[in-house]
Amino acid sequence: MSVEIDWKNLGFSYIKTPFRYISYWKDGQWDNGQLTEDNKVYISEGSTALHYGQTAFEGLKAYRCKDGSINLFRPDENAKRLMQSCQRLLMPEVPIDKFVDAVKQAVKANEEYIPPYGTGGSLYIRPYIIGVGDNIGVAPAPEYIFSVFVVPVGAYFKGGLTPTRFIVTEYDRAAPRGTGSVKVGGNYASGYKAGKEAKQAGYSDAVYLDPQTHTKIEEIGAANFFGITKDGKKFVTPKSPSILPSITKYSLLYLAKERLGLDVEEGDIYIDALDQFSEAGACGTAAVISPIGGIQNGDNLHVFYSETEVGPVTQRLYDELVGIQYGDVPAPDNWIVKVD
Ligand code: PLP
Ligand code: COI
Repeated sequence: MSVEIDWKNLGFSYIKTPFRYISYWKDGQWDNGQLTEDNKVYISEGSTALHYGQTAFEGLKAYRCKDGSINLFRPDENAKRLMQSCQRLLMPEVPIDKFVDAVKQAVKANEEYIPPYGTGGSLYIRPYIIGVGDNIGVAPAPEYIFSVFVVPVGAYFKGGLTPTRFIVTEYDRAAPRGTGSVKVGGNYASGYKAGKEAKQAGYSDAVYLDPQTHTKIEEIGAANFFGITKDGKKFVTPKSPSILPSITKYSLLYLAKERLGLDVEEGDIYIDALDQFSEAGACGTAAVISPIGGIQNGDNLHVFYSETEVGPVTQRLYDELVGIQYGDVPAPDNWIVKVD
């Protein structure tokens, strides 16, 4: 079967693919899970996911390599992060093996939907877990569903590797000791308004500041932030208990140091100290590396390297990361898992 898709012009939109994996947790254990063609989920009206936001998700990608094989990028890290999310919301953990097996099954079953090598697209994988079953009290659900579906995608931010502008929002996405460091549904619904207002004003997304002092950069929409210092020698990224520990960010910290020979630092990045950086970017599974042309903060627009061209260090990081993901550049040990 061949699929009719304009691979080169994919954005980040839902496309129904034929199969998804679904597994049920009841009476204290997970069932074996299976693939299904039905993209609807039937749940009790009392499900905690519907009322109290007892839901967590992950995002990772499958890549078609030049030799036709299929790469997953660090899926065990997503499995571990889902475990953290489950612990925070009192949901049963999905074991790493079950998670990776479910991801492989969903990718394999929808293999035709993996964008061909060289088109720039990839297969976005969305694992999620929801509290379900009859319930009304504010308490963890009696039953859970863990499911994985996949969608072919292209660029998340319209510019791709062309820099775009972002704007500082007055809203917080997470509380200082809330759920910012886990990938739970509530963090995202609470960001809709900031994202919408940023886009309506012509920016790619909102820049969140730290919820405690509103002086330091936290995140860029659904991505982490990094900056390259003016001497081109240091990769800096925020450290905060209320940001998502981005797998892309930790991969870049490693690659910047080990492959590009840069100094690396996780620390405070004050919004009024952006002058120290020549380049800046948003990084994440969906965002990949999206260069930041400028950040609007109130009346002040801070412009980085260029508003039209990606900076040289960002480009090198991109080539290294994306090269590894598509199998063109040797990967550090255990970063790539094949689907066969
Ligand atoms: N920050 C937020 C809020 C996110 O939703 C994501 C996406 O997963 C990221 C950062 C980037 O994380 P990762 O690189 O693991 O995809
Ligand atoms: C991801 O990068 O995987 C994300 O979760 C971003 C998003 C679309 C919420």
